[in-house]
Amino acid sequence: MKAELLYEGKAKQVYRTNTKSQLVLSYKNDATAFNGKKKAFFEGKGRLNNEISSRIFTYLQEQGISSHFIKRLNETEQLVHETAIIPLEVVIRNVATGSILKRLGLKEGMPFQPPLIELFYKNDELDDPLINDDHALLLTNITVSELKEIKAKALEVNTVLRELYQSLNLDLIDFKLEFGRSITGEIVLADEISPDTCRLWDRDTREKMDKDVFRQGTGDLLEVYEIILHRLEERK
Ligand code: C5P
Repeated sequence: MKAELLYEGKAKQVYRTNTKSQLVLSYKNDATAFNGKKKAFFEGKGRLNNEISSRIFTYLQEQGISSHFIKRLNETEQLVHETAIIPLEVVIRNVATGSILKRLGLKEGMPFQPPLIELFYKNDELDDPLINDDHALLLTNITVSELKEIKAKALEVNTVLRELYQSLNLDLIDFKLEFGRSITGEIVLADEISPDTCRLWDRDTREKMDKDVFRQGTGDLLEVYEIILHRLEERK
C-alpha cells in the first residue's frame, strides 16, 4: 500500500499510496522536545501514539468533527486524506502551563475562561515563534474567513475533547492542532492528536500524563501513554 516516502518529521513519516489523494502516516518511536534539542527513542511509542490518535480522530468524527483521518491500518500506521499542511500550530489553552508561564509571567494552574487561542508559525529555523492573526495571514495562504473557521474548529475540538478526557478522569490542559488544505481546497483538521501534542493532568492526583514527563524528565513516557490508551479502551 505504501509507496514513496514524501516527508519525514520528528515523530512521523508520510508516504504516498497507490490511491491518489490518500497518504499513510507512520508513527515513529522517537521523542523530541524543545524543538529537537532533547531526543530519545522509546520502543513502542509509535504504536501508542498511532492507537491513541486513531481513537481520538474516530471519536471526533462520531461527534461530527471531520479530519484527514480515514482509518488505522496497523500498529504504527494510519491512512489519511492528503492535505498540504498549513504552517500554523494552533494552540488552545484551558489552564496556564508550559511556554505561556515565562512569556506572560503567569502562575501554573491559572484557569483560562474562555480558553485561550495562540498561533505559532511552524518553522524549525525560527523555533516556531508566537504570531498574531495578521502574521498568520501574511505567512500562509489562508483567508480571513478560513482563519476564523480554523479557530472555531479548534474551540469545538476543545469542547468535545475536554468532555471526553473528563470521563477518563483527566483534565485537558492544552493542546496543539494543525490544519491542511485538501486537494479540493478545503481546510481540514490534520496531523495527530496524542499525548505528544497535548497536556493531560490526572483529576485526582494532578500528575502530568503526557510528553511533559519526557520534557521535564519526571516520569516514564511509555508507562504514562499506556495509561492514556488503557483509559480510552476502557471507555467502551
Ligand atoms: O510549549 P507550549 O506550552 O507552548 O505547548 C502548548 C501545547 O502545544 C502543549 O500541549 C504541547 O504539547 C503542544 N505543542 C506541540 N508541538 C509543538 C509545540 C507545542 O504539540 N511544537
